Amino acid sequence: MNRILVGAQWGDEGKGKIIDVLMESTDVVVRSQGGNNAGHTVEVGDKKFVLHLIPSGILRAGKKCVIGNGTVIDPLALIGEIQGLTNKGIKTLNRLFISDRAHLVMPYHRLKDAGREDSSKSKIGTTKRGIGPTYEDKVNRTGLRVHDLLDPKALRAKILDRVLLVNQECRANKWKQVKAEEIISDYLKAARFLKPYIADTVLMLDAFSRKKQSMLFEGAQGTFLDIDHGTYPFVTSSNTTSGGACTGSGVPPNAIDQVISVMKAYTTRVGEGPFPTQTEELGDLLHGMGREFGSTTGRARRCGWFDAVLTRFSTLVNGVDEIALTNLDGLDSLEKIKVCVAYTLRGKKILYPPSSIDDLKLCQPVYKIFPGWKKDLSGIKTFSTLPKTAQSYVKALAELTGARIRIVSVGPKREQTFFLK
Ligand code: GDP
Ligand code: IMO
Ligand code: MG
Repeated sequence: MNRILVGAQWGDEGKGKIIDVLMESTDVVVRSQGGNNAGHTVEVGDKKFVLHLIPSGILRAGKKCVIGNGTVIDPLALIGEIQGLTNKGIKTLNRLFISDRAHLVMPYHRLKDAGREDSSKSKIGTTKRGIGPTYEDKVNRTGLRVHDLLDPKALRAKILDRVLLVNQECRANKWKQVKAEEIISDYLKAARFLKPYIADTVLMLDAFSRKKQSMLFEGAQGTFLDIDHGTYPFVTSSNTTSGGACTGSGVPPNAIDQVISVMKAYTTRVGEGPFPTQTEELGDLLHGMGREFGSTTGRARRCGWFDAVLTRFSTLVNGVDEIALTNLDGLDSLEKIKVCVAYTLRGKKILYPPSSIDDLKLCQPVYKIFPGWKKDLSGIKTFSTLPKTAQSYVKALAELTGARIRIVSVGPKREQTFFLK
């Protein structure tokens, strides 16, 4: 069985934790878009891991992990992540494979990303990992790919060529100049380290498929950060929705059996952009508990009530079959819980988000109020032992979102998860 897992909101839904749980019954895990802008947290025993580019399945011994062609790879950051895992006793050789067709994040991409964010009035609040500028070069057909690392002469020529143009742009914007020789030396060193991990992952995934190995596609970011379907321009630069898993891995759509979406029992967002249900009340509560700080940048996440207008659209655009609901325990102390069931826009009720963020900014949430459960859920092991008020809340979210809930998570650890029949 091949499954795609996506985030239903603005990222950080708890995908890492759910991937880790699902890997128990999966052979291969695949990242197909994004880069080290992602931060996927997995807690195993008393150890906490935050994965950025390496699929979360790496924590399950023996499972194969693939970083597909649709991703953007910062080789130096990837080496750091591999070494971090090695230091914690996690093996990566002969288990982790990176696509020779994936694009390389270069130091000048990071520089451009940070330069634009720091100088622009209309900043996006990016992770400054160089993701946008790398995808820009990909679409512009001027990018460098992982296979370039395997040909030192060609790599050198391409870097020299690119740096000439990049430095013209740096001069025009008063950014620091980049040094071609430094980049060439760092990337050639990185190439020697990464060589055993580089593979034609399209052929590799096809071979896994023929051997009937099961695959899980680990979405990064979330539906509303999708370059096409998200709150443009406050989005990332890849397709975070389920369709991206196929183009970003070379696995065809007819090989996919199921789509799972991960959603939080409330909503969060990091970075700029409209957020109709944002509320200080919930933000203060969660931050006070030490929760909802970014796994990649440490920024405090903006928090708001569950928004069914968003998740309803997410079900539609991803073709969601089943939902994994996380962080239900985040609402434990509340007397009353609000859920946005629709928006009003210019006096009209709407059930799906508008395409323009100028319209989204004008949308007023229509709330339904649910009673809270005022109970610690972190030790609950079955749906039937959840307080009745929590059961009603979960059922309402499923109904409003338009898919069945299969998994409920009440804490960051593997054991704090239960399946619904
Ligand atoms: P991802 O990017 O979607 O993988 O999510 P992140 O790891 O960035 O953020 C999710 C945060 O919530 C992490 O700190 C997880 O350990 C934590 N988490 C996931 N599920 C639950 C849950 O059900 N309850 C609690 N308390 N924490 C959770
Ligand atoms: P995971 O996989 C939450 C956000 C950034 C910014 C926008 C563009 O952990 O859910 P980028 O650096 O991608 O150009 O930034 O996207 N963003 C995320 N928000 N979770 C993520 O990943 C994110 N990856 C990027 O904050 O608003
Ligand atoms: Mg995250």
